[in-house]
Amino acid sequence: MPDPHHDLRAGIVATCREMNRIGLNQGTSGNLSHRVEGGFLVTPTSLPYERMTPEDVVLMDFEGGYQGRHRPSSEWRFHRDILRRRGEENVVLHTHSAYATTLAVHERGIPAFHYMVAVAGGTEIRCAPYACFGTQALSDYALEALEARTACLLGHHGLIVLGDTFERALWRAVEIETLAKMYVHALAIGEPPRLTEAQMAQVLEQIRRMGYGETPDLADVADTPRPRA
Ligand code: 13P
Repeated sequence: MPDPHHDLRAGIVATCREMNRIGLNQGTSGNLSHRVEGGFLVTPTSLPYERMTPEDVVLMDFEGGYQGRHRPSSEWRFHRDILRRRGEENVVLHTHSAYATTLAVHERGIPAFHYMVAVAGGTEIRCAPYACFGTQALSDYALEALEARTACLLGHHGLIVLGDTFERALWRAVEIETLAKMYVHALAIGEPPRLTEAQMAQVLEQIRRMGYGETPDLADVADTPRPRA
């Protein structure tokens, strides 16, 4: 019988490889999941992405049961808890990207030093307190830091990004890693001034109005230039 999840399994493999290829992650750090009916697919623990095939991806239910030839990611708890809590998101991407993690080791989030922090849905990207990898405590802290956001940093650890599709989650992760890089560079001169609440509210409204970050051919929104007939 054909596997109904084959395309999503292949999407997980392709996205993980892309994450390492573009330098957003390295080695076997990071993990990735996608929602399916009644549960989710998640990367196996500690398997190099170049060797990972769609059949290696693990199927889990929301009670923590799994099916597959490997053990699931050590971080299955936060994948499960986020997907359970955040019904509008389908993808949870976790990476140890260098600049986001540089901030996270200082237990610093990313403030409104640049308007693009709004890609995570609010006026700042929080950093969750430290907890050991693979624990329920880490999942609890992550859920709290993700409140009304689509990304958070994990203290002394890395970054979590959510998305409705693999493409959107990867796009958002690249934008946030770039922001983290710019913030680390900006800090070399001193703490940069922040945009005000009112300025950020305008940015958030502009993103909403323009459908910014949506797939361009699907956008049908205010102020969008129309193609010539
Ligand atoms: P896994 O290989 O178990 O997914 O662990 C990688 C990681 O980044 C833990 O936070």
